[in-house]
Amino acid sequence: MAENFKGQPRLPDFAAPRHYDIFLKPDLLACIFSGSATITVDVLLPTRFLVLNAADLSIDTASVCLTTTTTISNSISPVSTDVVEEDEILVLQFDSDLPLGQSLLRIAFSGTLNDDMRGFYRSEYEYKGEVKNMAVTQFESVDARRCFPCWDEPAFKAKFKITLEVPSELVALSNMPISEEKIIGDLKTVSYDESPLMSTYLVAIVIGHFDYIQGLTPDGVQVRVYTQVGKTDQGKFALDVALKSLNLYKDYFAVPYPLPKLDMVAIPDFADGAMENYGLVTYRELALLFDEQLSSAINRQDVAITVAHELAHQWFGNLVTMEWWTHLWLNEGFASWVSYLAVDAIFPEWNIWTQFLDKTSSGMMLDALSESHPIEVEIKHANEVDAIFDSISYGKGASVIRMLHSYLGADCFQKALASYIKKYAYANAKTEDLWAVLEEESGEPVKDLMNSWTKQQGYPVISVKMNSNKLHVFQEQFLSDGSSASGTWIIPLTICCSSYENSKKFILTSKSDQLDVDNLILQVGKQETFWMKLNTNQTGFYRVKYDDELAAGLKYAIQADKLSLMDKIGIIDDASALCVACKGSLSSLLSLLDAYSMESDYTVLSWVISVSLKIANVVDDATPDLSDKIKLFLIKLLNSPAEKLGWDVKDGESHLDTMLRAELLMALVRLGNTITVDEGIRRFYIFLNDRNSSVLPPDIRKVAYVAVMQKCTTSDKMGYESLLKIYREADQSQEKMRILGSLASSPDKSIVLAALNFLLTDEVRNRDAVYGLKVSNQGREIGWEWLKENWEYVSKRWVSTPLISGFVKSIVSLFASYEKSKEIEEFFSNRLKPTFERALKQSLESVKTKAHWMEGVRSDESLAEVVSHLVDKA
Ligand code: BES
Ligand code: ZN
Repeated sequence: MAENFKGQPRLPDFAAPRHYDIFLKPDLLACIFSGSATITVDVLLPTRFLVLNAADLSIDTASVCLTTTTTISNSISPVSTDVVEEDEILVLQFDSDLPLGQSLLRIAFSGTLNDDMRGFYRSEYEYKGEVKNMAVTQFESVDARRCFPCWDEPAFKAKFKITLEVPSELVALSNMPISEEKIIGDLKTVSYDESPLMSTYLVAIVIGHFDYIQGLTPDGVQVRVYTQVGKTDQGKFALDVALKSLNLYKDYFAVPYPLPKLDMVAIPDFADGAMENYGLVTYRELALLFDEQLSSAINRQDVAITVAHELAHQWFGNLVTMEWWTHLWLNEGFASWVSYLAVDAIFPEWNIWTQFLDKTSSGMMLDALSESHPIEVEIKHANEVDAIFDSISYGKGASVIRMLHSYLGADCFQKALASYIKKYAYANAKTEDLWAVLEEESGEPVKDLMNSWTKQQGYPVISVKMNSNKLHVFQEQFLSDGSSASGTWIIPLTICCSSYENSKKFILTSKSDQLDVDNLILQVGKQETFWMKLNTNQTGFYRVKYDDELAAGLKYAIQADKLSLMDKIGIIDDASALCVACKGSLSSLLSLLDAYSMESDYTVLSWVISVSLKIANVVDDATPDLSDKIKLFLIKLLNSPAEKLGWDVKDGESHLDTMLRAELLMALVRLGNTITVDEGIRRFYIFLNDRNSSVLPPDIRKVAYVAVMQKCTTSDKMGYESLLKIYREADQSQEKMRILGSLASSPDKSIVLAALNFLLTDEVRNRDAVYGLKVSNQGREIGWEWLKENWEYVSKRWVSTPLISGFVKSIVSLFASYEKSKEIEEFFSNRLKPTFERALKQSLESVKTKAHWMEGVRSDESLAEVVSHLVDKA
């Protein structure tokens, strides 16, 4: 009879849980646990079945008691208890219909504390010189069912009362504060307050040795950061950001933080960056801890953004939860967007909104593939959920929110959000529920506008040209492989002309239009040079392709420093994407880059750098004859700002300059600039002999590591071995990651192989191995051979984690030819698994896109001449 419930995307809704009493007793030595769940179930429709989720659990007993307000009847046992493995459901069948109303379902079960970093798992750490296990949960998206049987869907909200039995010397945390603790011998029973209504994926437990530091928000919410024993200093920065963010969100959402406490814990083995469990947020160590001596500026920024992101979820996600995974983007896109709002308020000097364009750009990159998906995506099976935690849900999601925010205005947007949170608190909402509230607040047709962005895959490129004081605009879908596709978006268009004061807004609803820009043009003073920029400050999720005349105007505006940082970035980002799609030539992209030669801002240069590296990567394959010359031009372009900054930190230097130095030097090393490589190596050996020396601060350490590896060969392995030594001695995750990320960047095949094999040893944590797959173009063949050879082992060790996608993506996307794409496809044809299928398809498509780009580069007839001119001039 369990047959009836197989293959369904969602659980039947004839019964719903209201309250869970969960008891768990983990054995941290044997890595197993036993437990019981007593669930108050509301039977809503006549049924002989209870269907809920369970996976990797052995169900020991199950029974139902009927309750009235005063009595609990004898228990009834099901006539059959079936586990449907492929659907991860537990089907209990009774011999007659269950009475409508509340019953108590009691299930006893047991399971393993796994190594997969999901469900209820173990993580290793060192305590007083001994290796220990801690027990940790990670339930999002669909893994609460691996810890206890439950209705494991976001819309089945219930209250949770957790009780744990653990060794008495350990710290045991859950979502709510402790209500009672009883010590009996070596064990203690810890009970926690009942939670408010919440979804299963937000339940959490952490058990191990920890120290903490704490603070209070102005409203008295207790916030703690838990770290490894003796390391609480590293939690100070995150604690400060957390206290400030909570205060900010309380005002922004106009609702206080919903729980009495918030704990944040650093977990050594952790699959993602962080997880927003209600009241008990878990993090990878490198996303929470900040060490004044060992961490870099970019680490500081990542910690701030991660904390701000997870705390935003406490309202947006936890208090108001998506109704189904189709609306995941509401959670992730929104938390991403609002985290920038918080970080901008706390650290205005970071210019974080300009850096937000990274998100937009990564969303656009993925969404330019035909293997992309709409923001609101149909989910037919639980195993499809993990794959959509991608740049569409995060980057595109956050960007279309920014677009709407800018269209409606900050005040209106905030008011609507506050009423949305109030209206759906402790409940669930769909995308259209948010649009309805925004529509009511603004009076604008939000739903129609936004549907065109969230229900439709892809985004448009708008081609513009001037036609006697009319601006002719034409939209079509932008695809990286240069193909065209139909699709029309409702586009909030902004245009400014020769100054930011002289601007106009339009809504483009059709494929093409003639826009009246007479007034804009008339306002341009006689003395001023004419330029026109669309998509002011890049708030829109679309690209713009200018005709030659308008493009020349913009180049002038860049050189004359007339544009905002975001617009300078937007122009180079659009131009490089158009070039990749063969809708613009490499020679004109290089000339455009040249216009940035006087630039000194971090955010803009950071873009110039990434475009430069993308070009350098493709020219080796595409035009080997010109490749050295092109790299020389790029080196000259980046060298002048790099020389201004030098290698040593200046007193009182800005956060952004510190990050810029690292990026510029790294780019110069990757471009093979001998002076930079040699200086990196020189500093490395001083540092190796004297770790307290100031020649290699954390910010530029990886530059030196990569320089060392670039010169490392089989006959002189000293660099590789020295790096391994530092890796083994380092006890801080950020430092370990810098090393892992450098080891495979040698051009020498046997060193690359040694570095890759090292990733499979037990010196590298499961989670960290993907960080080490940073192979250069010269090493990619050996990387691919290695992946094929080790595939069986790799897939066994990582296939049940989302990390397997990382292995596929990191190696596959290095290639740039149709033949290789075919070969890779064939290799995986009988090895495909749903966990990495999407990643593989997307990576293969990006390989083909690069191959297509190479053809474009080869047919660029003016390239040689333009490059010579640029090199001579620079
Ligand atoms: N809810 C996610 C964590 C998550 C990711 C759970 C994937 C299940 C699958 C969390 O809020 C998140 O988005 N974390 C990010 C960090 C953030 C700063 C973007 C992460 O883990 O990368
Ligand atoms: Zn998130």
